Amino acid sequence: MTIFSVQSTIFSRASVVLLSSNGFKRFSFASSFSSSAVYSPPLPKMKKRRYPIVSAVDIGGVTISRNDLVRDDDPTNNVPDSIFSKLGMQLHRRDKHPIGILKNAIYNYFDSNYSKKFEKFDDLSPIVTTKQNFDDVLVPADHVSRSLNDTYYVDSQTVLRCHTSAHQAELLRKGHSRFLVTGDVYRRDSIDSTHYPVFHQMEGFCVFSPEDWNESGKDSTLYAAEDLKKCLEGLARHLFGSVEMRWVDTYFPFTNPSFELEIYFKEDWLEVLGCGVTEQVILKQSGLENNVAWAFGLGLERLAMVLFDIPDIRFFWTSDERFTSQFGKGELGVKFKPYSKYPPCYKDISFWISDSFTENNFCEVVRGIAGDLVEELKLIDQFTNKKGMTSHCYRIVFRSMERSLTDEEVNDLQSKVRDEVQKKLNVELR
Ligand code: DAH
Repeated sequence: MTIFSVQSTIFSRASVVLLSSNGFKRFSFASSFSSSAVYSPPLPKMKKRRYPIVSAVDIGGVTISRNDLVRDDDPTNNVPDSIFSKLGMQLHRRDKHPIGILKNAIYNYFDSNYSKKFEKFDDLSPIVTTKQNFDDVLVPADHVSRSLNDTYYVDSQTVLRCHTSAHQAELLRKGHSRFLVTGDVYRRDSIDSTHYPVFHQMEGFCVFSPEDWNESGKDSTLYAAEDLKKCLEGLARHLFGSVEMRWVDTYFPFTNPSFELEIYFKEDWLEVLGCGVTEQVILKQSGLENNVAWAFGLGLERLAMVLFDIPDIRFFWTSDERFTSQFGKGELGVKFKPYSKYPPCYKDISFWISDSFTENNFCEVVRGIAGDLVEELKLIDQFTNKKGMTSHCYRIVFRSMERSLTDEEVNDLQSKVRDEVQKKLNVELR
């Protein structure tokens, strides 16, 4: 089941199982660059890099150097260069970018309906402690999202936030009671048109005092839940017009009750966000034992893909003017006009997996080599032989959103993938 974010849910009850984490090796990769990044020249040994390696990024005025985040000296570290280079990009702070346009449209809704009472944060560092990311929001010790397979660890105590909920507790402790937090979040994940290891979320949080619900004659939890639903139904109408909606009960560690909002869009139910009434422990830990609160988290890419008709999540990262020039400040819902669809190129790869093999690790190797030229990676066949060896066959779809790829180029990528999976994933090619 999926939620608000384009990525699959990692906080639903179904996934409360710890996958065995494996000590996979890291690899390096140079990726597209950030306007706010500082660069060093390509490393001499890596002649064929297509982009320079980013040596430092600027996050909210703080310079983070590559060596702080991409580390060979810590076995827990699993941050590759491709991820590091995304850190200063802040797509959500660009007014003419679909993600920024959507953020501003949500801001407008809150400003006009709550007379600017919601404070806005969109520049909090994505480098957070495991306490912020997990413990403070009651993510169980054995939850799958804590594994090295799912989350980018800088070291054993520090991660790239995998959700904006990581900031709830710290903001509450600092005395904020109504806020919106927007930011880039990071998850190791599969490869297809709706999954990318970096995406954007917005978190909303609203604390109530006894006088708020006392007058209503309702119990505090019911009061908060009703207020939450009213607020988010209004937001969905603000963004999508008069759509059909439904509420689905679900589970999150940080809320009870918990809900998902779905809207009926293009003949299908689409999950728009996750939300709920905040667990009392979270409020209590921040000195708010007499209060009640609601919270929500929504994935901006998922909504933007629908609102702007953007068919592939990689588009958000392109600097191709044929994409960027189509969007303007304040223009919510302009429909993206595809400029061209370049041909895909399919390559299959089969290997005997080892016990430590995970698909996320394989995806990271492929992204490390092909970057945004990989469109999809899917398991097309698997079997176990009499000796108990398991074979996986994957189809890799290579396609650029900007040009036609040459055969030579794709063959070169594929041959590098073959080399690297053997070296890094301990698999045996077939
Ligand atoms: N943090 C959740 C996720 O990324 C989303 C979420 C769900 C945030 C419910 C909330 C909430 O604040 O109440 O999976």
